Amino acid sequence: MTSLPEIQAMKRALELAILGRKAVFPNPMVGAVVLDSSSNSVGEGFHEKCGAPHAEIVALSEAGAAASSGTIVVSLEPCCHYGRTGPCTDAIINAGIRKVVIAMLDPHPNVSGKGKKQLESVGIEVETSVLLDEAEILNRVYLHYLRTSRSWITLKMALSMDGRTAAKDGGSRWLSCEESRKQVHRMRASAQAVMTGAGTVRYDDPELTSRGSEYTGEQPARIVVSATGDLGNSRKIFEKPGRVIIAVPESVSGNIQEFQREFGADIWGFPADSTGYGFNLTLLLERTASEGFGEILCECGRGLATMLLRKKLVNTLSVFTTPLILGGEGLPAFEKLGINSMVDSIRLENVRSSLLGTDTHLEGEVVYWTD
Ligand SMILES: NC(=O)c1ccc[n+]([C@@H]2O[C@H](COP(=O)([O-])OP(=O)(O)OC[C@H]3O[C@@H](n4cnc5c(N)ncnc54)[C@H](OP(=O)(O)O)[C@@H]3O)[C@@H](O)[C@H]2O)c1
Repeated sequence: MTSLPEIQAMKRALELAILGRKAVFPNPMVGAVVLDSSSNSVGEGFHEKCGAPHAEIVALSEAGAAASSGTIVVSLEPCCHYGRTGPCTDAIINAGIRKVVIAMLDPHPNVSGKGKKQLESVGIEVETSVLLDEAEILNRVYLHYLRTSRSWITLKMALSMDGRTAAKDGGSRWLSCEESRKQVHRMRASAQAVMTGAGTVRYDDPELTSRGSEYTGEQPARIVVSATGDLGNSRKIFEKPGRVIIAVPESVSGNIQEFQREFGADIWGFPADSTGYGFNLTLLLERTASEGFGEILCECGRGLATMLLRKKLVNTLSVFTTPLILGGEGLPAFEKLGINSMVDSIRLENVRSSLLGTDTHLEGEVVYWTD
């Protein structure tokens, strides 16, 4: 039976875990709280960044001798293998912990139930699945990466009430109110990278940086996806600090070395897609994950948005709707997606909605019917 102090400690462990959001990937976010034998919190910690001590080690060292005969409450199954740091199970056993409360077993092949078994084998009581749903949502990027080896994509779009992303002339400024724009700057500040298509760069000349009071001191990397390497005369994307990556088919990567020479941008070339258009975006998202970008905020027009959805690469859809109408002349959010009836529609689950100034903000995880 999970006690009330253990549940409260798990809520705190989940809160702590989030503090590692920007730096832990490809590791999971983990938080831990140590309760002494009278259920008082005596130590807490979180995994701060990849390579840094695990949450359990931080919490146990804060607790010191008070951990003996106590309980450790941890949002993910403790590891039992030697990675960059020693096994957390050994540290828990050595600290004299009597009970371990876990939110989620770790599906990583090096752990996956083995940590729990090792603890039980020395007589420690282990309870699992405490606030499991919350823990799975918290670590969705990590779980997705283990399954697919890809980055998690949040596609953000600003739409008119009739679902248009821009007016007929291509203008989309300002298709959302000030509060929504502030929210977007917060999203950029917490993303490791922001991605867009060459069409948006050519038309809008965006910076794609986090600005105003939402700026946290570190700009996300900016990734531009292009089939042609043509960015027109737009250069703002290179002007602010932060890494800029231009992803193109191998056949054009040689033609755009000027962006590397003049602005220090990284040019990533990919084999041409079998369809003959651009390159396979799945390869791009595998590369971004291998370079440490767990979660990418995508702010693009309908061209790239359609390609990502067709390939089932969008994980979260985040839509800001503003109270104006652009009519049938306006640019639609997506091109054809092969949806002919309601049963084919792409739906969202775990939907969150809020009012931001005059806009509505709706966000949820994409469910593809054939999954
Ligand atoms: N309301 C909003 O939230 C919002 C956000 C952003 C932009 N916009 C508006 O959207 C309009 C621009 O739309 P857009 O469709 O041109 O822009 P986009 O989606 O940002 O960019 C499209 C471009 O992405 C590249 N691309 C897509 N799939 C690719 C693949 N598989 N391989 C390689 N490259 C690929 C192509 O680059 P190449 O051009 O090099 O072939 C393509 O033309 C503008 O009017 C802008 O204001 C609105």
